[in-house]
Amino acid sequence: MRFHSPSILTACASLAITLICHVCPAANAQSAELAPTPPMGWNSWNHFAEKVTDADVRAAADAMVASGMRDAGYIFVNVDDSWEGERDSQGNIHSNRKFPDMKALGEYVHSKGLKFGIYSSPGPKTCGGYEGSYGHEQQDASTYATWGVDFLKYDLCSYMDIMKLHDPAQDPHQALQMMQAAYRKMHEALLNTHRPIVYSLCQYGVGSVWQWGPQVGGNIWRTTDDIRDHYSSMALIGFSQAGLEKFAGPGHWNDPDMLEVGNGGMTAEEYRTHMSLWAILAAPLIAGNDLSKMDDTTKSILMNKEVIAVDQDKLGIQGSRIAPPQIWMKPLSDGSKAVALFNYVTDDEAEPLTLNFKDVGFSGPLRVRDLWTHKELGILHDSYTVTVPQGGVVMLRIWPQTSETGAAP
Ligand code: GLA
Repeated sequence: MRFHSPSILTACASLAITLICHVCPAANAQSAELAPTPPMGWNSWNHFAEKVTDADVRAAADAMVASGMRDAGYIFVNVDDSWEGERDSQGNIHSNRKFPDMKALGEYVHSKGLKFGIYSSPGPKTCGGYEGSYGHEQQDASTYATWGVDFLKYDLCSYMDIMKLHDPAQDPHQALQMMQAAYRKMHEALLNTHRPIVYSLCQYGVGSVWQWGPQVGGNIWRTTDDIRDHYSSMALIGFSQAGLEKFAGPGHWNDPDMLEVGNGGMTAEEYRTHMSLWAILAAPLIAGNDLSKMDDTTKSILMNKEVIAVDQDKLGIQGSRIAPPQIWMKPLSDGSKAVALFNYVTDDEAEPLTLNFKDVGFSGPLRVRDLWTHKELGILHDSYTVTVPQGGVVMLRIWPQTSETGAAP
């Protein structure tokens, strides 16, 4: 991310506390249909960044099918920044030399039973300095529709400069209104295409976007600055989501950024933490690795169906922290609860962590299953103590034994 002015960001963030939206969270009916559960897919940025080419995206689509990721639920193939070329004399956007034919690319992605995503900015330039949609919103939305686009990530970037130009005094109230208007404008342009396009707001959580994201048409909105392929970045972002749970639900989700699983900067235990935490958070699961070169560990993490089922549960409740230091719980639609015990303590040791079942709201006999070892732990009472590796996680699914919902998943 570039172009960010800390003073505006901070001012917007504090102001937004007083600007709670007056409209109900699910602003339009289309939202719930577009993203009834958190979107799943792949995006080019975290691994390829500005080097991504048409061939890389096709290879990602191929690998999504061949690896089983598509069948595990990963559907979107999203091209991030750096596809953009010049506008022609009519103002129509064209892709650059790395992407010779976007319509053909969209068709290729669709031919694999996948959906096609793209990236732009409300500003004149994207974060990478490529052509943005400023002043061409409807034209770009219509172009995307002809290319078969199903998902748009819309990244604030140089729109910050427009906000500053418009109001050099940087009044936070005005800044917030301008930002909301810019996001609403593209939403309306997308609606005018009559093509269902998932709308992903990317403005790094500025101005408490979770409080107004649905009102400007967002299906997902980034809640933080960019993730990096490092445990400290991932953990800081993931664990800082505590408290945002009330803003997520079917059609509109908090987005703590894309996955780094498989990119090499974390241990397998840490990547299991990443995947578990994002699932507990009901976060979009957008893989960000090179899918054509996945080892078995990466596959086992990204395609753990029991963990994905937690993320994709139709109740759509974002989980929350229930006990210190980092024990998190997400209620599920069959009456069970997913619980993750994270060893987030910063010494170098595996830690015994104890889950008291009363903290989950359960008493009596409970059926407990470990979602990473895929083993039943038996019928347990009162509490469960387990040694969790450094930076790692134990993730459980717990069914009250007396209910009728104790069937194996
Ligand atoms: C910003 C976004 C990233 C990525 C880059 C592309 O930094 O937050 O996710 O899209 O721009 O330039």
